[in-house]
Amino acid sequence: MTSYIIREATPDDAAAVIFHNDLIANEPRNGIIRGPGESMSLEDEQNYLKNSSVADNSCFLIAITPAGEVIGVCGFQGGKRKAVRHQGGLGISVNIEWRDKGVGTALMRRLIDWAKNTGIITRMELTVMAHNTRAIHVYEKLGFQIEGRQRAALFKDGAYVDVYMMALLFMDYPTT
Ligand SMILES: CC(C)(COP(=O)(O)OP(=O)(O)OC[C@H]1O[C@@H](n2cnc3c(N)ncnc32)[C@H](O)[C@@H]1OP(=O)(O)O)[C@@H](O)C(=O)NCCC(=O)NCCS
Repeated sequence: MTSYIIREATPDDAAAVIFHNDLIANEPRNGIIRGPGESMSLEDEQNYLKNSSVADNSCFLIAITPAGEVIGVCGFQGGKRKAVRHQGGLGISVNIEWRDKGVGTALMRRLIDWAKNTGIITRMELTVMAHNTRAIHVYEKLGFQIEGRQRAALFKDGAYVDVYMMALLFMDYPTT
């Protein structure tokens, strides 16, 4: 298996990111919200990557081979308003050929390091289907905790699916 590097995506990576997203979206029981035909247009993806790279509380990382194949993506979108700038949502996917080889963990670790270094972000959130035990294992390994379960939150592959809300906090705060 060839090597890969992890770096922040630029708008020039949009086509390769869409190609990766389409592969995941077309997998049966793919573990993500997006389904076939729901990837962004090239222009929207370019704008999304541009906005992610300029925002001080958003980041979109890719794992990419020397041949230019995107084999994993991991993004974080920070909140826009003052009250939610310290938090945001995280999403991740790894090419099926590369799963269980540490790519997802490496992407998450880089994103968490980035978030800690922003001096802004103190809370990272995500949602995950309750049966996605591999993803939950990776998140819990990195310190994410389950905060709640949303019943029948998604309709996927012909059935309603429960979703866990998970979060990682980098701070102590007074609770009432
Ligand atoms: C979830 C995902 C991002 C993880 O990335 P990855 O590169 O496969 O993960 P890693 O190889 O870094 O780690 C996998 C870990 O899960 C473990 N694992 C594998 N299958 C498992 C299972 N069925 N249940 C529990 N743990 C499992 C592995 O042993 C490994 O554990 P370790 O790090 O303690 O050794 C990737 O599998 C993926 O893209 N899945 C499809 C899309 C998806 O589900 N995205 C997340 C949506 S919330």
